[in-house]
Amino acid sequence: MIQTDHLSKWYGRVAAVKDLNLYVRRGTILGLVGENGAGKTTTLSILATLTTPTSGRAYVNGYEVSRQPQGVRRSIGYMPDSFGVYDDIRVEEYLTFYAECYRVPRRLTQARCKEYLDWVGLWEHRDKYVNNLSRGMQQRLEIARCLMHDPPVLILDEPTSGLDPRSRIEVRGVLAKLRELGKTMLISSHILHELSEVADEIGILRGGELVALAALDVVLSHSSAYRSLWVEATADVRTWARLLEGDPRVLDYRVEPDGVELSFAGTVEQQADLLARLVRSGLAVRQFAERPTDLEALYLRLTEQREAT
Ligand SMILES: Nc1ncnc2c1ncn2[C@@H]1O[C@H](COP(=O)(O)OP(=O)(O)OP(=O)(O)O)[C@@H](O)[C@H]1O
Ligand SMILES: [Mg+2]
Repeated sequence: MIQTDHLSKWYGRVAAVKDLNLYVRRGTILGLVGENGAGKTTTLSILATLTTPTSGRAYVNGYEVSRQPQGVRRSIGYMPDSFGVYDDIRVEEYLTFYAECYRVPRRLTQARCKEYLDWVGLWEHRDKYVNNLSRGMQQRLEIARCLMHDPPVLILDEPTSGLDPRSRIEVRGVLAKLRELGKTMLISSHILHELSEVADEIGILRGGELVALAALDVVLSHSSAYRSLWVEATADVRTWARLLEGDPRVLDYRVEPDGVELSFAGTVEQQADLLARLVRSGLAVRQFAERPTDLEALYLRLTEQREAT
């Protein structure tokens, strides 16, 4: 459904993508994880026909990106990593406009608007101006937009980046629901756990190369059983102890002058509960973020395993 064959992209002497061989089966979801500059955006933008590869081939839904870009464009919903500026357009108009560009029959447009806006939790905001929405809402609107022409393939570039904690959790909820649609998807992130409820397989990119590709549970079993959370808020040691020590999912914590770093072993919902509890207790939380997984250690563990077998 999505395939790349010795795909490379060079910018001068920098290889943004190097000899990449990927394969995403119909109806499955591949999460592409990598640090800044790993080549995620370049890969996704080649698949979306917006960047020309230097060598190799890429196929989406049976179409080759360089030779049949129109076929590829019809087949995909693409969410870029950066967000456009919308002047004077309301949520529902925006989706209708987009549907028209994609020649979605009029009789379907209205029903799809309702269905997908409901789906991403924005139906009651349908008359708001897009540029007045929060960034999390805009990201959810973009997901709805990607669905409007009912493409079999979705390509989403870091849908959760740049969001505050609450929006992050909301967008993650929508991503988890995308599974129900049975579409073939490629989603990038620089945080492995962001994709843990969505992806079937995880590919790890480093320096433009695919250094590991494995089923999600295999990758997770090699990453730590807990994640590291950073909570920025001012409180004294006694307050932190009172708030954190009763929670069985907080394995450990370290108080710093401007916040606390903690090891958390729980689901995303439990993580949201923790945030809600901290806020309810009156703490002014300025940041609540997952520290990126130590991908370096993970590559090592995955490659050691490969060499051992
Ligand atoms: N238009 C460009 N011109 C020159 N170099 C580029 C261009 N686009 C990307 N690169 C380089 O290619 C490499 C891969 O970039 P890319 O944006 O694909 O990474 P990424 O994994 O999406 O990173 P991020 O997490 O920061 O979004 C980087 O070294 C980057 O500097
Ligand atoms: Mg990127």
